Amino acid sequence: MKDNLIMSMPNGFLDELRNRLSIVDVIGRKVMWDNKKSNPGKGDMWAPCPFHHEKTASFHVEDTKGFYYCFGCQAKGDAIKFVRETENVSFMEAVGILAQEAGMQMPERDPQAQEKLDKGRELSDILEVANRFFRLSLKQQIGYNAQEYLKKRGMSQETQDQFEIGFAPAGNVLLKVLQDQGISVDLAIESGVVARPDDGRNAYDFYRDRITFPIRDVRGRLVSFGGRAMDQNARAKYLNGPERLIFDKGRALYNHGPARSACGRGSPLIVAEGYMDVIALSAAGLEACVAPLGTAITDRQLQMMWRMSPEPVIALDGDKAGLRAAYRLIDLAMPMLEAGVGLRFAIMPDGLDPDDLIKQRGPQVMRDVIDNALPMVSLLWRRETEGKDFDSPERRAALDKSLRGAIGAIQDLSIKRHYGDILKDMRFELFRGKKQSQGAKSFKPAANSRGKSGYGSRKQLALPSESVKTSMLVSDDPAQAEVMREAVILATLLKNPEQIEEFIIQLESLHSIYEEHRNIIRMLLIIGGDHTSEQLIELLAQEVGIQAVNKLFSHPTVKIAPSVRKPDPELAQRCLNEEFAKLKAKSGHGVAISEEMDILFDADDEKLTWRLRQAAEARNKAIKAEAEDRTEFDVAENGVEISRDEREVFQNLLNSLGAGRQNKK
Ligand code: UTP
Ligand code: MN
Repeated sequence: MKDNLIMSMPNGFLDELRNRLSIVDVIGRKVMWDNKKSNPGKGDMWAPCPFHHEKTASFHVEDTKGFYYCFGCQAKGDAIKFVRETENVSFMEAVGILAQEAGMQMPERDPQAQEKLDKGRELSDILEVANRFFRLSLKQQIGYNAQEYLKKRGMSQETQDQFEIGFAPAGNVLLKVLQDQGISVDLAIESGVVARPDDGRNAYDFYRDRITFPIRDVRGRLVSFGGRAMDQNARAKYLNGPERLIFDKGRALYNHGPARSACGRGSPLIVAEGYMDVIALSAAGLEACVAPLGTAITDRQLQMMWRMSPEPVIALDGDKAGLRAAYRLIDLAMPMLEAGVGLRFAIMPDGLDPDDLIKQRGPQVMRDVIDNALPMVSLLWRRETEGKDFDSPERRAALDKSLRGAIGAIQDLSIKRHYGDILKDMRFELFRGKKQSQGAKSFKPAANSRGKSGYGSRKQLALPSESVKTSMLVSDDPAQAEVMREAVILATLLKNPEQIEEFIIQLESLHSIYEEHRNIIRMLLIIGGDHTSEQLIELLAQEVGIQAVNKLFSHPTVKIAPSVRKPDPELAQRCLNEEFAKLKAKSGHGVAISEEMDILFDADDEKLTWRLRQAAEARNKAIKAEAEDRTEFDVAENGVEISRDEREVFQNLLNSLGAGRQNKK
């Protein structure tokens, strides 16, 4: 609750910031203006676009309007958006950066948070020293073998530079280098590049005779390294840095920042297993890709991925281990599914990994494999049926049971129903297929062959989320009524922003099946009240697009809603109370849907009620957890120790900025 208040900004703050800044100055540092085309006197500037590759100047900036627009790639926004995109930072961070530039005074920092931040910076600086040393070593005689190895693997110089590939020599050269620079052994150990044996003997370099892969957080801060052994007999092929103040494996992703930027340009996110896969994918033009760091994907990493892309494609090594990892990931992801948010799985053929596949068959084949990624439901089906025979009632019942169990983990009732529908179809196909072709002993999942059940490839599949979306077009669908209520609620809040704080709990637990609504809700939660209606709508238009806002207000029911037409606190409150209450009542409907699904699966009544209760409880928990998580999301995404403390610091910053503004007047 409180955290949302912390996120809100003083009234008029952004306007003041925009007034003080020149967008031409902000952007001018990143682009080369086209002098012929530009007219500085009028603040009308043109440059080659920084968001896509071009030689001509189709990127237009208008100082008076404070906006940029690219006629080539349609990138557009204001100074804040520009900083977000080019610096890879969150909205609030961008505001912080610009506020500093605009000469708005920095507040006192919370001493403890400050200490932690300073420490993190110090450690990261040590890693930067190590990185320079590794980079240099690779280019010297000592790195000759490593260079040859990289060449042999087909990594171009350009790619090596882009990913800052280096080489850590054997021996304890780095430790000496660090000490020469006045860095203590203890600090070097704290940073992770130096280790000390448990028995207290002499400290040694953590990475020895290894190719190094710097790991940066989403903001580009160096947090650790991966190291690939040159020696085939090394005790581990890959070493990932130890967990440290600035490095939490479960919250880090390799190539996070560049991948996020690429996702921002509309590429789908690819999740590979290892460093070399990410590098190969990126070099092949598939730049929106990340990898976990030697551990199984965590829920936190999933959330980070979903923040970048609604439907990341998990690019699996086409071996047993890869498939097993995917099966585990299904269990992790199921309870976290929301409408429009899911996973796809691309299984590399013939036991290859993405790196091998690109090397052996070229980028186009890789792209095809990604395009034909399977939805999660197909992989689930494969998991439950592969290599099994369903030639007896008992075995079929066992399949039903395992499928029920699997979808039981889904908390979103609408998705659960669609999973039920699709699996039911697949099951029907399977059992019917059995009867017709007695020859085939075990069922070959449609997955491999883009088979007849139609859940094999992207083109043929009725995705759960897609089905939900289309269902809104059907007027007698209850989902339609729900979306309409949401629209009235959101429009009312936009017209009566003072009610946002009042209804923030209800707003937080509003889980729209409609992506545009979810985006609006998220924005309202982040920027909150303390804005006039006009400001709020403007901010929203920037964030979620003017079309989404127009669409919201052009909804016939919204148009005639008194609380939208005539802003008035009492009227708004009455309307919001009513609409929220009706939405809540609708969850009863959700239960009915789920019931229907369970009946399809022949559940007995007692189990059914028990499961429904469980589902409802789980859902409540999820809603609560998610409200808590929302703050932690930012934490994870912005780097390991951007903590609540720092958020408070930021609030102080905003407060003091607000105060600063008032003093000015
Ligand atoms: P792979 O063994 O599939 O590596 O491990 P790879 O990317 O194909 O490596 P190359 O092509 O032989 O160089 C995938 C990931 O698993 C982790 C690493 O993060 C690696 O990138 N891993 C692997 C380890 O952490 N330790 C190991 O010993 C092996
Ligand atoms: Mn490989």
